Amino acid sequence: MRLIHRTNGTELSSPERDFLAIEGLPTAELRRLLDHAEQLLPAAVGDAPADERLRGRIVANLFFEDSTRTRVSFEIAARRLGAEVVNLSASGSSASKGETLVDTALNIEAMGVDTIVVRTSISGGAALVANAVRCPVINAGDGRHEHPTQALLDVLMLRLRLGDLTGKRVAVVGDIANSRVARSTTHALVALGAHAVIVGPPALVPMGFESIATGPGKITIHHDIEEIIRSIDAIMMLRVQMERAAGSGIAPDYRATYGLTTARRKLLREGVPILHPGPVNRGVEIDDEVADDPRDSVILAQVSCGVAARMAVLLRAVAR
Ligand code: NCD
Repeated sequence: MRLIHRTNGTELSSPERDFLAIEGLPTAELRRLLDHAEQLLPAAVGDAPADERLRGRIVANLFFEDSTRTRVSFEIAARRLGAEVVNLSASGSSASKGETLVDTALNIEAMGVDTIVVRTSISGGAALVANAVRCPVINAGDGRHEHPTQALLDVLMLRLRLGDLTGKRVAVVGDIANSRVARSTTHALVALGAHAVIVGPPALVPMGFESIATGPGKITIHHDIEEIIRSIDAIMMLRVQMERAAGSGIAPDYRATYGLTTARRKLLREGVPILHPGPVNRGVEIDDEVADDPRDSVILAQVSCGVAARMAVLLRAVAR
């Protein structure tokens, strides 16, 4: 009988099955996951026969912050692999009665799940859960810290469009300070030898961001989008994270100064892919016409890549 009894951490799960951050992930492992995700793309979008490698496994989605794409794509990824999924959110669970994230995770684990996918507003919350439970833990976004599966899908998308990312200039534009996507994707870009061209208002780019990552690539910081827009290979627009902004609203001139407007888009080189992790604030960081461009907006293709990326991460966590 498999009963959970905690033993001072001595029987904790193998940390190599957790997926908590891109920072510190060996580059060879990042490349392996990307290659695997790329192979899984046809199955992810339903063009190849279902893969049953996770049949009989249970994936618990603990989403304590709102989510559309990430939660549903973890669920679809798990189902494509034959696993069963249970979903828990803050409202409707005992989190609303004050139960802590770690206690919730321990209780869900005690019911015998095989992996926990966690989204929380607590920066470092996924690692807190991983330190407490024995099953593998996957970070689906923890506060301002990291969103490692988003980074995987972003660089998968970029590789599909640009090939090898060595030396490629990828602009990441907007609310860098509050964005876990910006942090994770920057780590991945630098690890793969790309140039992360970070652009945002001075108040939304943290001090020292140019040295957050180590690797063959590099990071530069800019406050004027027009200074870089003619020379980049890809552009990722970010949503202003109103839920994290310290009481401030979106500046009325945000679109004019940092938005990818229809007029500004004309300054991009031919064929430069336009990315956005979603949810999109149309008419703020990106104009409708740009977001909906059938050739160069890859916003929905990113979502498809997300299913494949999460399949690769779930297999790494749970497959025997
Ligand atoms: C991002 C997130 O939650 O960090 N969204 C996502 O997972 N696709 C970005 C955002 O909320 O703006």
